[in-house]
Amino acid sequence: MTDVKENGRAAIHQAVSSAVEKHGASRTELIPILIDINDALGYLPGEALEELGILLRVPQSQLFSVAGFYQMLTTKKRGKHVVQFCESAPCHVAGGQKVWEALLNALNLKTGETSADGQWTLLTTSCLGACGVGPVMMVDEDIFGNVTADQVTEILARYQ
Ligand code: FES
Repeated sequence: MTDVKENGRAAIHQAVSSAVEKHGASRTELIPILIDINDALGYLPGEALEELGILLRVPQSQLFSVAGFYQMLTTKKRGKHVVQFCESAPCHVAGGQKVWEALLNALNLKTGETSADGQWTLLTTSCLGACGVGPVMMVDEDIFGNVTADQVTEILARYQ
């Protein structure tokens, strides 16, 4: 029988060790180390920050505060697919509100929430650098421009 908890710990240990090995056990490398761990595990579990804190001699409170500051880092487990919606003014002016409402309806989530089935996380973001084709949304690494409310369901369906 597979011990899921033990496997989880092994994966965390592996992610922390390889990130520290790659960048060196130095506080100046904290951000790239955290990014690598986040990429490997999908988020930064408390156990990973605990282990990293010991290796780098950095208090956990500081690690949590760094993780909370950068949008690409998260201490909360995210869904299989992360939907980000640009809420900056140019996208808003281009009709973003209707797209946002369609997203809220389609996913039945609030900002920052993850669906109970672990499939989706919904986030808002500031400008994604594609203002000329607003409204803009991202699903995982894919960016969608000139999105209309009617297209939202079809876009999401590509990831199911
Ligand atoms: S304002 Fe939305 S991508 Fe720039």
